[in-house]
Amino acid sequence: PAEDEARIEEIKRLLEAHNAVLVAHYYTDDAIQQLAEETGGCVADSLEMARFGARHEADTLVVAGVRFMGETAKILSPEKRVLMPTLEATCSLDVGCPAEEFSAFCDAHPDRTVVVYANTSAAVKARADWVVTSSIAVDVIEHLKARGEKILWAPDKHLGGYIQKQTGADMLLWDGACIVHEEFKAKGVEDLKGLYPEAAVLVHPESPASVVELADVAGSTSQLIKAAKELPQDKLIVATDRGIFFKMQQAVPEKTLFEAPTAGNGATCKSCAHCPWMAMNALDNMAAALREGSGEIFVDDALRLAALKPLERMLNFNR
Ligand code: 13P
Ligand code: SF4
Repeated sequence: PAEDEARIEEIKRLLEAHNAVLVAHYYTDDAIQQLAEETGGCVADSLEMARFGARHEADTLVVAGVRFMGETAKILSPEKRVLMPTLEATCSLDVGCPAEEFSAFCDAHPDRTVVVYANTSAAVKARADWVVTSSIAVDVIEHLKARGEKILWAPDKHLGGYIQKQTGADMLLWDGACIVHEEFKAKGVEDLKGLYPEAAVLVHPESPASVVELADVAGSTSQLIKAAKELPQDKLIVATDRGIFFKMQQAVPEKTLFEAPTAGNGATCKSCAHCPWMAMNALDNMAAALREGSGEIFVDDALRLAALKPLERMLNFNR
């Protein structure tokens, strides 16, 4: 639409005027992902978003994603201004792991190394020994297990259970879940697989174990896009937020992609597997953030320094 075009032009102008760069997650709208690409920004998983933002020489990072991604960017780059289209965009994992309760949980298990998923507040990260994202979690836990460490993991119980299975590590799990991925049902994936037996199944490990068990490949968003390219199958059933289809289809234009159903009845669902908070990022509020400086992320200094340590461990971790 013409209004979108006008907004896109405005954002391009503002990005340049503010020496700003757009860092977007795969789950944001297609128009935002495309804009990030066209303007020299990045479209990535949460680990690469953090890396890209930290390394980039822009004065301002515009983070299109959810709150923890903006906070991580600010923790890694305190000298940069970090703007988000909206500060309301949270994550059920973050919401389900309040810092005080989490801290008490850690206090009750002082013998365990605290590893938290990036999908947490700065205050929760500040209490952790390690931060990980889904693309690096298995490697880090394997490393800690080899050092004989026992793990306290938060907040995603599905991802935690998956890592536990992969590594055999001793992990005590916090009881959190992603409301988007938790909706995938094994029955629905099996029914779809019944219709397309030759299709490969790709699953984000925030999904329930019964769904991950059906996967040919389980991994982070960027790992799933890579797998889409590498797998020999030309039909792919994908269990993650539908935002990923924009880049995945670009990566494999010749393949047929199916959204894994969330209804459990074999019917594909066009609107279910989409994060409501990612969907809050829009061209309008992005333009407003750049124009008015709204949606700026601030992280208290002491908290920032405490959260920086486990984040840097992740970024410096060599597989
Ligand atoms: P990725 O690190 O795989 O991009 O995951 C982030 C996320 O929020 C998935 O729901
Ligand atoms: Fe959080 Fe799930 Fe949304 Fe990712 S998809 S941001 S884990 S609620």
